[in-house]
Amino acid sequence: MDEYRIADIKLASSGRAKMEWAWDSMPVLKSLKKEYLPDLPLKGYNVAACLHLEAKTACLLVLMKDLGANVAAAGSNPLSTQDDICAALAESGVKVYSHRGMSDSQYFDNLRSVIDTSPDIIIDDGADLIALLHTEYRDILSSIKGASEETTTGVNRIKSMEKDNILQFPVIAVNDAKSKYLFDNRYGTGQSVLDGIMRTTNHLLAGKKIVVAGYGWCGRGVASRASAMGGHVIVVEVDPHRAFEAMMDGYAVMSMDEASAVGDIFLTLTGNTDVVRKQHFEKMKDGVLLGNAGHFDVEINKVDLDSLSVSVKETRNNVQTYIMEDGRKLHLLAEGRLVNLAAGDGHPVEIMDLSFALQLESVLLFSKENWKPGVYNVPCDIDRKVMEKKLNSMGITLEKLTTGQVEYLASWKE
Ligand code: NAI
Repeated sequence: MDEYRIADIKLASSGRAKMEWAWDSMPVLKSLKKEYLPDLPLKGYNVAACLHLEAKTACLLVLMKDLGANVAAAGSNPLSTQDDICAALAESGVKVYSHRGMSDSQYFDNLRSVIDTSPDIIIDDGADLIALLHTEYRDILSSIKGASEETTTGVNRIKSMEKDNILQFPVIAVNDAKSKYLFDNRYGTGQSVLDGIMRTTNHLLAGKKIVVAGYGWCGRGVASRASAMGGHVIVVEVDPHRAFEAMMDGYAVMSMDEASAVGDIFLTLTGNTDVVRKQHFEKMKDGVLLGNAGHFDVEINKVDLDSLSVSVKETRNNVQTYIMEDGRKLHLLAEGRLVNLAAGDGHPVEIMDLSFALQLESVLLFSKENWKPGVYNVPCDIDRKVMEKKLNSMGITLEKLTTGQVEYLASWKE
């Protein structure tokens, strides 16, 4: 089998430079490398990953290789793959199958190539690899020791598989660790989504009405950063508690029907489908920006956009402009795919240092122990260890409970 299938191996030096830049801001991964390198705990294991192939992810993949693993990787999104990173990975000995702009069928062929390396351990982002294994490769499921899943949508999918009694190996829900969702989903998405929009459009955020659909961990982050940039945030939610929380946080809350008529920028972060659709496009103002940061490109209905428009053109890199019958222009960013990754570099490095430390620790758990099929949380001690390492790298000292305080907290007496 090909050792790699990528756009151009000659791009490797640019990819290596990006990785070097990222690695310098990943103190937690560096410290884990120091801790584990002497024992080569992944020696002999085949690790297969489906991740956004950009610099930070590449650092994780190369680190696992350094710890002894044979690593194969495919990109988890056609537009988030960076070709120079793939080249640098291939040069480092990672089997890599991806290129930016791959078609749907190429995307699945790449996943199949990764599965053909006979993986023992899986790292997934969105659960496509896990789902494909359970549909087309049922005969090898019992040889898989476990998987870790990076994102909310992927965790929702594996929980559905568990509920339907389909899941045949253990999966650690990395997304649900505190060191992950509190920082990656909130502050990582908060910063990187705005960065993606700004670098793609060169538009101002201050004074704009920014509609944030979904006030989960990602939505909270985007709302707070958009507001800090001077935007007037409008939250659209289906959950009453989250809608009220958004209101208490100082934002306007309304339905998508109401928001459609007033918004300037629409951002979806729900993990759901058809959040912005025909009835909403019909009401929107001329010149609005439409961006998605949820995992799949199903939140903004592109079929409806196509059917309502008389023409579509690429007005800038990563901007498709749909011209409506009445002459209004609606600008779709990054084809409705994750705007922060498809039109940017994804989350800040310092944030992914935490998420990937959790991924590495999860992979190491499967190399040490046999787990039964099911969905598991990251063990609390690992979640805490990762956070403490981060604080330590920043020179921040935690307060310690005194013996009296420990006793007081454990006692029911006054
Ligand atoms: P979450 O579950 O915390 O929040 C989702 C929110 O969307 C919930 O409050 C839910 O009530 C709301 N919602 C569902 N349907 C809705 C609708 N039709 N209209 C308005 N609100 C609706 O999930 P989280 O962690 O915020 O993740 C959201 C999505 O972002 C997922 O697809 C996740 O995989 C993805 N994600 C993307 C990242 C990125 O880099 N772009 C990073 C992390 C997660």
